[in-house]
Amino acid sequence: MILVTGGAGFIGANFVLDWLSNHDEPLINLDKLTYAGNLASLASLANNGRHIFVQGDIADGALVASLLEKYQPRAIVHFAAESHVDRSIHGPEAFLQTNIIGTFQLLQAARQFFATLSGQAAAQFRFLHVSTDEVYGSLAPDAPAFTEQHPYEPNSPYSASKAASDHLVRAWHHTYGLPVLTTNCSNNYGPLQFPEKLIPLMIHRGLMGEDLPVYGDGQNVRDWLYVGDHCTAIRRVLEKGTLGETYNIGGRAEMKNLDVVHTLCDLLDELRPKTKGASYRDQIRFVTDRPGHDRRYAIDSTRIATELEWKPSETFATGLRKTVQWYLDHEAWVDNVTSGAYRQWTQLNYQAREQDNQVEKK
Ligand code: NAD
Ligand code: TYD
Repeated sequence: MILVTGGAGFIGANFVLDWLSNHDEPLINLDKLTYAGNLASLASLANNGRHIFVQGDIADGALVASLLEKYQPRAIVHFAAESHVDRSIHGPEAFLQTNIIGTFQLLQAARQFFATLSGQAAAQFRFLHVSTDEVYGSLAPDAPAFTEQHPYEPNSPYSASKAASDHLVRAWHHTYGLPVLTTNCSNNYGPLQFPEKLIPLMIHRGLMGEDLPVYGDGQNVRDWLYVGDHCTAIRRVLEKGTLGETYNIGGRAEMKNLDVVHTLCDLLDELRPKTKGASYRDQIRFVTDRPGHDRRYAIDSTRIATELEWKPSETFATGLRKTVQWYLDHEAWVDNVTSGAYRQWTQLNYQAREQDNQVEKK
């Protein structure tokens, strides 16, 4: 038995689905079901007795303690977080509450539970903390990619709160001996991602005939990893990672945002052509930049590749094609998650940016 937090979110749900199709071992899925958590993503598990879903908050120490005592998991895989940078700019408090206080409460409960274990159960227990490359800050265009030794220089409320949680996890290992592992991963994409993040947002808005809002000059670089590859990396770290260590995970797929959007438009033109030869590229608009927008992220994943023999199985081209096809095949899922609250968010985030609204110059 393992305990997963945030398993109704994008990466967590992909991890839960992968886990239950690759393992006999059951899991408890603790998720608060914020706007980002969707049980529709787990609908295929409705009759699966190995999936125990609990709606609750990781900051509820008593709840977490009772789950640990009842189910005696051999590991905690901690995904639950507030995860969207733009939302952290508009409302940082929820990020501090869940990412810092929530992680603190989870660590406390894990530490108390770990103290009750002995022998084999104590030796095998793991707390795996899922984090981001954004804790390292922004890279200059020619700087080497982030290694695990890169200094922490978070720039957004989101990345600052994740950096704080990484430090707490480290401290609970050094001070209390909790057997922890930390992973810092680059930008994920793939099925089940909420359409507020770049790739699903562009697919969704493209299909709706809406503007495709590119922040600033569109030259910011992200290093993209297909979510299924992130899940295999986490499983590998869980089974073989060295306690107390961190592992950077990335796809070696650095792309400028505008190139990502162009590639998405080209895939949509091919897979869902518009009438009269029009292109989805016509919908691209440059809008006001994100405040404090990090210019470039890139992950050096040498460590996990050499020590744990992990490498991604998708390229950006194969992963993106699969992703676009998934969104085309799952319009009901998208309709389900883009409720009234979603529309309020897009109004808040995009209305103020509209003043720039330059049409792309070809
Ligand atoms: P997400 O926003 O899609 O999902 C987060 C999930 O956590 C949701 O199901 C939500 O309901 C749940 N949650 C939020 N607050 C909670 C709380 N207080 N208690 C219990 N559950 C709560 O996020 P994601 O993109 O799946 O990211 C998962 C993890 O991976 C996060 O820790 C994130 O920082 C990290 N990460 C994400 C990316 C990425 O590109 N998405 C990259 C690297 C690391
Ligand atoms: P995002 O998916 O929010 O991930 P992160 O900020 O965590 O990297 O954004 C990815 C990149 O895309 C980032 O440089 C901001 C940019 N972006 C846009 O240009 N337009 C958008 O509407 C969004 C949501 C993001």
